[in-house]
Amino acid sequence: MQNELRSRISAAGQGHLLTHYDQVSAEAQAKLERQFADINWEALPAIIADYVLKRPETAIPADLTPAPFFPFPPKTTEDKALYEKAAALGEKLIAEGKVASLTVAGGQGTRLGFDGPKGTYPITPVLHKTLFQYFAESIARISERSGTKLHWYIMCSELNFKATKDFFEANQFFGLDNQQVHFFVQGTMPAIGLDGKLIIAAEDSLALAPNGHGGTLLALRNSGALDEMKANGVEYISYFQVDNPLVPVADPLFVGLHALEGSQMSSRMLPKTCPTEKLGNFCITGGRLAVIEYSDMPYELANRRNADGSLAFLSGSPAIHVISRTFVEQLTADGTLSLPWHRADKKVPYLGADRTTVKPETPNAVKVESFIFDSLPLASKTIILEGARKEIFGPTKNATGVDSAESCRAMLIERDARRMELAGIKVPRKADGTTDAILEISPRRVVDDCDAVEFFKNNPVLTPIQAGDIRSFGK
Ligand code: UTP
Repeated sequence: MQNELRSRISAAGQGHLLTHYDQVSAEAQAKLERQFADINWEALPAIIADYVLKRPETAIPADLTPAPFFPFPPKTTEDKALYEKAAALGEKLIAEGKVASLTVAGGQGTRLGFDGPKGTYPITPVLHKTLFQYFAESIARISERSGTKLHWYIMCSELNFKATKDFFEANQFFGLDNQQVHFFVQGTMPAIGLDGKLIIAAEDSLALAPNGHGGTLLALRNSGALDEMKANGVEYISYFQVDNPLVPVADPLFVGLHALEGSQMSSRMLPKTCPTEKLGNFCITGGRLAVIEYSDMPYELANRRNADGSLAFLSGSPAIHVISRTFVEQLTADGTLSLPWHRADKKVPYLGADRTTVKPETPNAVKVESFIFDSLPLASKTIILEGARKEIFGPTKNATGVDSAESCRAMLIERDARRMELAGIKVPRKADGTTDAILEISPRRVVDDCDAVEFFKNNPVLTPIQAGDIRSFGK
């Protein structure tokens, strides 16, 4: 290893890594050296001082006010006309190839407890299609409908890139053109022990973790994806998370409204179901839009009510955005982007004194991540559009319970059942109103209500659906 790198590591107070390095095989040294070369050693001491050795104090601005939003459905005839214009523009932009979908799939998905990239998790209730397949088929349907090839960018991490790419190749990209699907890799951050020392996970490796979905914008730049988007004529990025199969992969209304309003970064919002619901809160501070995490939101503000009893800070974030490509170019122009870090205490396995892996029982390290929503205050123009929760947001964080694969499947069934009823098909319902059958419509055929009506007109359901049936429609 070059002396210069050694000096930088020592100067960052991480000399224990050099001691370890000097004791391992040449092969292990080569891998470690590659990891060392990627770390910003000069930035590390401040991160350790501010986020690890002391608990970062989140300074909550004193001037928070609720963020305005476009209601959905529209409340006035003016808004109705605006939305019609926006949806038509969005359709046109998609058809012109000016919109790309972007899925952030670099997370570790620890809560789901699934071995493999989260996108390879089987989510649909009947055919057990994976999250990636569900999105791929939606993208194929939108491409078919708009006569274009909707580009799809998938952000992976170093840890799951190969497995993700192999999965798509083994499944022939689920019928998409492989030129349409682009993988790019986000940056990593080392896990830092509570004593401020980086953790050695194995003879040949530090403990590394993806640097958070805030890493997306810089990763777009560094990977060349941003230049590629420009070359392909992509102007708008439809951003969503891999664990939300209900999200529209490219929503004409949302994209069109973003473009019409000249927004740089736009967000969907959901009305919160209770003051402390675990969603980020859209607020205005210093004239800019910001998201305040639910855990940081002052109790008084979270519980503040309007005269009509509704929540003053109503807007929760489901992490669905449209981002202008030029905004990403502007933010990352000099090859850097400094977003605030967020601290999470984790149990990180480490190499013990006897050279075996130790799995700690309690958190022993800090992982720092940046979040995409922290780029909102950097935008001079933003808009927020309300969304109907049961139509666009089914987060799959856990295996069972709240925000789980179970609850997401139930939501997929309810949305498909509602679309079938809209198409005039009778769906059995239980006393509590939920669907008394397990139903699944293929997103390869149906991505919205219009598609559903059209599909079932051309493909009538000849055998009525009985209570308890398990049925799928469309391939
Ligand atoms: P989460 O915050 O739910 O994290 O990510 P996670 O890593 O998937 O799951 P847990 O917390 O370990 O259980 C929200 C979205 O952001 C992506 C995830 O893949 C998911 O789509 N993400 C998260 C990244 O792409 N990179 C990251 O570094 C973190």
